Amino acid sequence: MDAQDCILTRRSVRTFTNQPVSHALLEQVISLAAYAPSWKNTQISRYIAIEDPAVQQAIIDRFCLSGSNNPNIIASAPLLIAQTFVKGRCGFERDGSYTTDRGEGWQYYDCGIAAQTFCLAAHDLGLGTVIMGVFDRKGLESYLQLPEEQELMALIAVGYPDPQLTLSAPKRKEVNELLSWC
Ligand SMILES: Cc1cc2nc3c(=O)[nH]c(=O)nc-3n(C[C@H](O)[C@H](O)[C@H](O)COP(=O)(O)O)c2cc1C
Repeated sequence: MDAQDCILTRRSVRTFTNQPVSHALLEQVISLAAYAPSWKNTQISRYIAIEDPAVQQAIIDRFCLSGSNNPNIIASAPLLIAQTFVKGRCGFERDGSYTTDRGEGWQYYDCGIAAQTFCLAAHDLGLGTVIMGVFDRKGLESYLQLPEEQELMALIAVGYPDPQLTLSAPKRKEVNELLSWC
């Protein structure tokens, strides 16, 4: 798959087969995601692989917020990734001050780039993914017993896409709305 195909055909996948994702394949995805650009190459993104159905069920029961379809997505996925990041490096000076007026925001920026690189790599390797942001972050951080120096960023469901799905891309904005020149 070339880069354009990978970008254009990646979709958020919300229904999966029950085929497990091998540890070797996930490691390959992570090794590719590691090539995402990052602030001064700080590489703050981390990934916790959750494949225990009991832990996934606890996340569904206790940390999904009402009104989203995320419980069904997590129930369908054989693998759930908790993307975390190491705090206080990306966007910070050595003395702990912010480098720019973006403050803590560069951390989230770098996580986004890493997550998209993860999702594109997974897609290239035949896996489907969906990034999920709707959950009780603080509650889940505590349940996962994150180290003090890390923060939970997003959940990413991972698995083999249900072959009965035909996913078309949600409509994208036109270039002339996205691009301006000066
Ligand atoms: C930061 C972020 C948070 C998201 N949160 C959710 C979510 O909680 N649940 C969900 O089903 N999809 C979620 N999505 C997926 C978007 O809905 C999806 O990317 C968008 O509709 C475009 O579809 P596509 O990914 O197939 O191109 C999220 C995506 C991003 C980037």
